[in-house]
Amino acid sequence: MTSKDNFEFAHEHRREVAWMSQNTNTLPVHPSILEAIRTSADEREFNLYPPKAGIFGLSDAIREDLGLDDADMILTNGGIEGEYIATRALLKAGDEALSTDPSFLPLESITPATKMLLAIDPNNPLGSGYSRSQIKGLADIARDHGLWLMDDITYRDFNADHVLATDFYPEKTLLSYSFSKAPGLAGLRIGAIIGPPDAIKSLRRFDTNVLGVNVLAQCAALAALQSKKEWLPGIRRICAKNQETIRHTVAKVDGASLPVFPSKANMFVIDLAPTGVKPEVVEERLLFDHLVHTRAGSYLSKKHGGEFLRVSFTVSEADCKRFADSFPAVMDKLAK
Ligand SMILES: Cc1ncc(COP(=O)(O)O)c(C=O)c1O
Repeated sequence: MTSKDNFEFAHEHRREVAWMSQNTNTLPVHPSILEAIRTSADEREFNLYPPKAGIFGLSDAIREDLGLDDADMILTNGGIEGEYIATRALLKAGDEALSTDPSFLPLESITPATKMLLAIDPNNPLGSGYSRSQIKGLADIARDHGLWLMDDITYRDFNADHVLATDFYPEKTLLSYSFSKAPGLAGLRIGAIIGPPDAIKSLRRFDTNVLGVNVLAQCAALAALQSKKEWLPGIRRICAKNQETIRHTVAKVDGASLPVFPSKANMFVIDLAPTGVKPEVVEERLLFDHLVHTRAGSYLSKKHGGEFLRVSFTVSEADCKRFADSFPAVMDKLAK
């Protein structure tokens, strides 16, 4: 079985599967978000290309969400497309971008070819997050070496204490912004790449969405920001509860542990190395025997991926309980 087969199976059984494999969010979405999608559909806004700068109010709402009055942005089909546009525009063949794998940035690896640092904060898959002084440290290094700093803030909403790298290095920080995780809109594919106006201008050459991005997604995104105060605290509360459930579950399994607790994102890495059990096999057994979809680490890190299982927890407490009931049983069977 490959991971692709697992995903096909999981999608086929989508309604029954506890979807803990992609750091998405299957908790109920705020009614105003659904309403915005339905209204846009009913009014057939999809007949037209959306306004070039995005639907009215969306980019202002994103600026307000970040507290960045002067930032410019390109709306994209998910944050990942913004990172693609930025790297196409700012890096040329032979240039290097440094990221983490998955621990703190190996700073000794900066070479003359290095043009960009990529910080994922909070980090996928570890769930760790940088402190204010660590982000300042990264920004200082980027400035000292004249590097772009890509701050991937996809999981920012899960960390109440999150600090933007823009606070320290506004002139060359780009923020990769996503509506996929906390607002639960992964399938709509909406995000943005955000930065100072001159930097964003230089990215536009590679913006493939000259006719805009999905209008239904934009309406949902705007409604999500307008109602954020109403839905975010509840999501954080369920995440905190589910984190505790998973912690107790992992503690029951000899040799398994959580390298990072609490997570500042919506996922954990479960270190399985001391158990001798392969994460791929755990992924399969949890999915096919218990309809719980988690993800073996190998797709995330060549070096460390064989050691861990990633489990995300923006799911209902009932789904999390299914994981809690099945993980120790699966591990017990496989350890024998
Ligand atoms: C660190 C990080 N950045 C970006 C993405 C993709 O975000 P989007 O769905 O907005 O393209 C993910 C998805 O898991 C992610 O983990």
